[in-house]
Amino acid sequence: SDTIIEPFRIRSVEPVRFTTMEERAQLLKEAGFNPFLLKADDVLIDLLTDSGTGAMSSKQWSGMIASDESYAGSSSFYKLESAVRDITGFKHLIPTHQGRAAENIFFTTIAREGDVIPSNTHFDTTRAHIEHAGAEARDLVIAEGHQPESRHPFKGNMDLAKLEKTIHDTGVDNIPVIMITVTNNSGGGQPVSMDNIRSVSEMARKYDIPFFIDACRFAENAWFIKTREEGFSGEKPLDIARKMFSYADGCTMSAKKDGMANIGGFLALNSDELASECRNLEILTEGFPTYGGMAGYDMEAVAQGLYEALDSDYLRYRIRSIAYLGDKLSDAGIPIVQPTGGHAVYLDARKILPHIPPTQYPAWSFNNALYLLGGVRGVEIGTVMFGRQPDGSEKPAAMELVRLAFPRRVYTQSHVDYLAEVIISVFRQREQLGGYKIVSGPTVLRHFSARLEPL
Ligand code: F0G
Repeated sequence: SDTIIEPFRIRSVEPVRFTTMEERAQLLKEAGFNPFLLKADDVLIDLLTDSGTGAMSSKQWSGMIASDESYAGSSSFYKLESAVRDITGFKHLIPTHQGRAAENIFFTTIAREGDVIPSNTHFDTTRAHIEHAGAEARDLVIAEGHQPESRHPFKGNMDLAKLEKTIHDTGVDNIPVIMITVTNNSGGGQPVSMDNIRSVSEMARKYDIPFFIDACRFAENAWFIKTREEGFSGEKPLDIARKMFSYADGCTMSAKKDGMANIGGFLALNSDELASECRNLEILTEGFPTYGGMAGYDMEAVAQGLYEALDSDYLRYRIRSIAYLGDKLSDAGIPIVQPTGGHAVYLDARKILPHIPPTQYPAWSFNNALYLLGGVRGVEIGTVMFGRQPDGSEKPAAMELVRLAFPRRVYTQSHVDYLAEVIISVFRQREQLGGYKIVSGPTVLRHFSARLEPL
């Protein structure tokens, strides 16, 4: 059959709550027109993030019951360590409560004032941690990565010429690490090819600069390599992942994505010296090195989840369910980032709403309209998220996107059919949508808590 079905059955269910449009108008107003400030109970289909929102398997739950909660030397830690070593090959595991805690430890340890840290595209928390350490987070994705309509198969690739120029201009001593984000979340969930990972690694080695992977969605990236890159179609996602990691010196990981867990993360790396420096900070901010920020049961869930994320039947369904929505929207003439990425569909709000300038936040406006009309919550990846510069000025983001991120193993095909109807209805009313202004908010990561008003 051509239909790719959910490769699981459902044994535990969670009700969703229906609201009326009048209720949603009131709720959105009370939330300062910021969907981050809505109560989840007031959202029907929640695509705010794929992070920590997935459904766990019966194997993960059984591992959690059998966990070891010892403060030091827990067997659940060793189980996680052996899974991480098996998949990544990295020698040291530093568990943390989530990805950004690994970033905090890593960048506090390696970054100094005046340093530059290149990546294809840094995620917002990664950028914030680098800037917090006084360094510059520089995005060097290939040009196609900024062109929503381009169908390049690996739009998350690093621009190697720009990388080499950055190394020359900045000087090796001011680049403590080169990063690459797989898949490239802030650039549309687009994958990075094995060839590009290898080339970045070769350049890093040539200049003796450490190379780390932001590995949140490593399994989804492995699937794209399998299905899009020559020479990999016969390989198992696990072997592709191993090969990806073999080119790097370490990784930061949010286990809330391809760890298939609700919380957790880690830093994994080869250098003994760097690991011991990072552990000192870990003890200070997270916890003793054999649990970091996680309970024993969290480590059990992640140890099992990392392998489930690499299952071919799961990945085929996962990537297809995103493409399924993307196809429906494309067929309706809605501009989206092409081709669809690994964890989300990204709507191109700059194209959909040309009458709203970036400084009036078109993607924010479209996302709020999705909630008003259908109780759907996505997230703006645009000028509200990225526009505020460290000096306080405002600059339009490279793209104005609405990200509809899919929690893993949570929604079914009829949920997706409903979603498509809501998005298409909002698209048909696009000319009636207006912009927003920010009335209050913090200076760092302002999208999480800013309050806005329609113009
Ligand atoms: N790196 C990437 C590429 C991410 O997407 C995220 C989180 C992080 C690091 C930080 O991990 O949340 O565990 O601290 N992304 C979520 C998202 C929040 O919605 O895309 P974290």
